[in-house]
Amino acid sequence: MDQRIEAAISRAIGLGQTPPTPPKLASALEYAVFPGGARVRPMLALAVAKACGDDCPELTDAACVAIELMHCASLVHDDLPCFDDAGIRRGKPSVHAAFGEPLAILAGDTLIIMAFEVLARAGTVDPARALSLVTTLGRASGMPGGICAGQGWESEPCVDLSAYHKAKTGSLFVAATTMGAIAGGSDPAAWTELGMRIGEAFQVADDLRDAVLDEETLGKPVGQDAVHGRPNAVADLGIDGAIRRLQDTLGGAISSIPSCPGEATLAQIVRGQADRLTPMGVKLKVG
Ligand code: IPE
Ligand code: IPE
Ligand code: MG
Ligand code: MG
Repeated sequence: MDQRIEAAISRAIGLGQTPPTPPKLASALEYAVFPGGARVRPMLALAVAKACGDDCPELTDAACVAIELMHCASLVHDDLPCFDDAGIRRGKPSVHAAFGEPLAILAGDTLIIMAFEVLARAGTVDPARALSLVTTLGRASGMPGGICAGQGWESEPCVDLSAYHKAKTGSLFVAATTMGAIAGGSDPAAWTELGMRIGEAFQVADDLRDAVLDEETLGKPVGQDAVHGRPNAVADLGIDGAIRRLQDTLGGAISSIPSCPGEATLAQIVRGQADRLTPMGVKLKVG
């Protein structure tokens, strides 16, 4: 757990809990964000920002917080009965199971709004970079290719697996690498491919874990792709094929890291994710 990221998230949530606030919604916000999951997106953003010099730590912190709050919001909404109807998240009752649907919807909405507020506040430090962060997060979370688009594919009769994964999951990983670069004052274009590849690998790994692991290990319901008839990498490629795809994609991710002072650390993060995400103790040969 990175203390810098946790402290920055805590500060942002605290601002939304200043009295007078409806106490249950204030608690639901906290519950949705703490304790966190792997915090992989803000860790990635922070690593890229550091690789780019991290010359404006307030902006880096804001980028990390905004990405994680958006991610947490997406999970709260994703678990709702009208989406995946999942009663468990991160090993505890999901937000609607603990607080009821109205508060879960409001908590998700609030986190999305907070994500943009955090970036807007950072505009006092560097307006141009903050504006670019806002646009990038908007692209990753809305339409035509962000999280909303990804979830929207689930209401279509025909779904392209790659477009679905890219929008649902990949977009926020691209946001993580490119927002890290923007916060650090670098050209985000050089970091798009890394985000895309990690995002693709991440979703393939998530599909594999959904297919082969148990609820206790995963801290969330398993077998969901099959239950909901969702397109997924295991259905398309089989387990062995999905593992090969994961290995190839992560290898490609490492090769796509631009040469920079933090290159080795970033490669280490990708390898660490490969170990963390691969089910069944399969040792991936990556990079
Ligand atoms: C889960 O993401 C949702 C997907 C995009 C597959 P994570 O596995 O990063 O969730 P947490 O934040 O660690 O719980
Ligand atoms: C979650 O996708 C991705 C978003 C919330 C946008 P899934 O529904 O596949 O992920 P889990 O299994 O619930 O974490
Ligand atoms: Mg879902
Ligand atoms: Mg789900």
